[in-house]
Amino acid sequence: MRPGKTSINSNWKKLFTEKYLQMTGGTSDEKLQTLLHQVEEIHELKLEKNATILAHYYMPPELQIETIDGGVADHTGDSLSLSVAGTKAQAANIVFCGVKFMAETAHILSDNKKVFLPNALAGCSLAESITGEDVKRMRLKHPGAPVIAYINTNAETKAECDIICTSRNAIKIANSFSSPELIFVPDKYMGQNLVHKFGKETNKKFILWDGSCIVHEQFLGNIKNMTMAEPEAEVLLHWEVPEQTVTSVLNTTKGIVGSTSDILRYVEESSAKKFILGSECDLGATLKGKFPNKQFISPCIYCSYMKEITISNTLETLQQIGTPMETEKLIIMDEELRRRAFIPLKRMIDLS
Ligand code: 13P
Ligand code: SF4
Repeated sequence: MRPGKTSINSNWKKLFTEKYLQMTGGTSDEKLQTLLHQVEEIHELKLEKNATILAHYYMPPELQIETIDGGVADHTGDSLSLSVAGTKAQAANIVFCGVKFMAETAHILSDNKKVFLPNALAGCSLAESITGEDVKRMRLKHPGAPVIAYINTNAETKAECDIICTSRNAIKIANSFSSPELIFVPDKYMGQNLVHKFGKETNKKFILWDGSCIVHEQFLGNIKNMTMAEPEAEVLLHWEVPEQTVTSVLNTTKGIVGSTSDILRYVEESSAKKFILGSECDLGATLKGKFPNKQFISPCIYCSYMKEITISNTLETLQQIGTPMETEKLIIMDEELRRRAFIPLKRMIDLS
């Protein structure tokens, strides 16, 4: 086995099939056979191309399943854990199954490795809502206020900010500043939720940008109706869900508003058997795979950007590594921009 490589269990087909069926609830034999064939090719190519696969929890189940369960992902996680896993990976090449800002972040933090994004169309409505110039204009309007950027931003925006945060560490980062005023970009709903939950505690004024997530902004009356129809279920809401939904739902139903990893931890610790998920639909598959004895229901809204990444274009990316075609999917960044975007990211990691 080469350094940095995970060995594949000889029983991998059985393990993958069991996990896939647990996560999806069932599929056709034809689809399963196609997936097993693709997974096998990916296992071989990862060894041949000295590559690691990092997969976000919003990826389809076939990309989320880790090598320990017969799948292709060396690490599946939220945006913070994936950034850190990228720095620790021993392979020379990282195939990032997530969206562009995440692959860019892995590249910024690990410049000694090549980072590949299987489809350049995998963007993010939050990242696309703001530019570095917008941040500069906000600074002029609010002189002295530190700028915290959610990790869901492009490198060019990050480079203009003081510190980055993820959904997991946002509170800790906000509390690390003594300034009474903070600029928080780009998610207005996450900002409003932070103010609602922690505003009194920190006594800080948050200046917000008008960005939103096209997935989480859709959790409105649909979640409220589900809680009324399923009164015994507890509710799981991401920070990016509109604050009006969060307040009205959590006023009447037990549950949590938090990051993806907060949601996973909450389910693990709760004795409830049924949950209503207010986050990306494939996180529901993650939950079903991790907690097979609990039930998860959801309005099931998918992130169209995340779904630009498929097992087919992941396989294609691996085939292209080391050939003249590899630049098609390689994250390439001006060195000065990489250096400037690294500074606020490093501050976040040091504080996390
Ligand atoms: P996490 O930081 O929880 O991984 O979320 C990323 C994201 O894109 C949420 O929509
Ligand atoms: Fe961006 Fe929302 Fe998709 Fe996350 S779910 S990548 S925030 S558009």
